[in-house]
Amino acid sequence: MAREFTSVGVVGLGTMGAGIVEVFARNGIDVVAVEIAEDALERGRRTLTGSTDRAVARGKLAPADRDALLGRVNFAVGLAALDSVDLVIEAVPERLDLKQRLFAELDRICRPEAVLATNTSSLSVTDIAVATGRPQQVVGVHFFNPAPVMKLVEVVRTVVTAPEVVADVEALCVRLGKVGVTIGDRAGFIANHLLFGYLNQAVGMVEARYATREDIDAAMKLGGGLPMGPLTLLDLIGLDTAYEILDTMYRRGGRDRRHAPAPLLRQMVTAGLLGRKSGRGFYTYERPGSPVVV
Ligand code: 3HC
Repeated sequence: MAREFTSVGVVGLGTMGAGIVEVFARNGIDVVAVEIAEDALERGRRTLTGSTDRAVARGKLAPADRDALLGRVNFAVGLAALDSVDLVIEAVPERLDLKQRLFAELDRICRPEAVLATNTSSLSVTDIAVATGRPQQVVGVHFFNPAPVMKLVEVVRTVVTAPEVVADVEALCVRLGKVGVTIGDRAGFIANHLLFGYLNQAVGMVEARYATREDIDAAMKLGGGLPMGPLTLLDLIGLDTAYEILDTMYRRGGRDRRHAPAPLLRQMVTAGLLGRKSGRGFYTYERPGSPVVV
């Protein structure tokens, strides 16, 4: 029988972390939501309340259910609040040194039987696991943006992850209403490995002035049957995140030229054009979610 996780911690309340907190709380699971500082914690709290308030406004969530959902989330500054959870999901920025330090710290703080999971999208789960004294209990749990909506979770097992830990996390995915796919520890796993080469090529087309951004997006949305075109999707993912993912896959995955980040992507990140979250990327956003062409 799969072990049922009853109390979960999420570390890092950016776009992905806050979305993951919502996924757990929506499914009746208590969550300790952790950040390193008050202002970051407040941002995470605002993301969660904004998302659940929108669901109420659209008639998708009753106000009482929203209140119950928020009541399951215990916000805290500092990792000490995670001392009694049985699963931690880390969603801090994609830097190996940062994640390794964090996992070493979690290993000291969390109960010995707790499972430590990373939401990394392109770093090596094995590299993160060996920073702990319990690598058999470290696993990748990769959600997709927006986490409350996207059905897929990639469960990443390393060569040392215990099979029962993988099975417990697979069962958890079902409980969360997600579909889990289980894979080995390879840069980009399945979805990002395939998706980001395509996104990168779309940036290359803009860079070469081969077609307009609107036409590139229209081609893939209307001709490819996708919910959004590649440039709109990059704005949703965040250009900084996309750059990091491509760069890591390029370096870890044998320098496959499809993953060599397009120079324009780097220039846009340097200029602070990060997509929806900064108000401007390939499109300009008056308010989150509405593309306004300039
Ligand atoms: N949080 C919670 N719910 C959200 C949401 C969010 N951030 N964004 C949208 N939703 C909900 C809406 O409330 C709505 O719910 P309802 O159907 O119950 O009313 C539903 O999602 C659909 O939203 P909209 O009607 O506003 O808009 P769309 O129909 O255009 O859907 C979308 C929006 C779900 C984002 C859709 O366009 C889509 O699927 N886009 C592709 C997203 C994608 O490919 N993500 C993967 C990115 S790669 C990744 O994440 C990997 C990582 O490593 C970077």
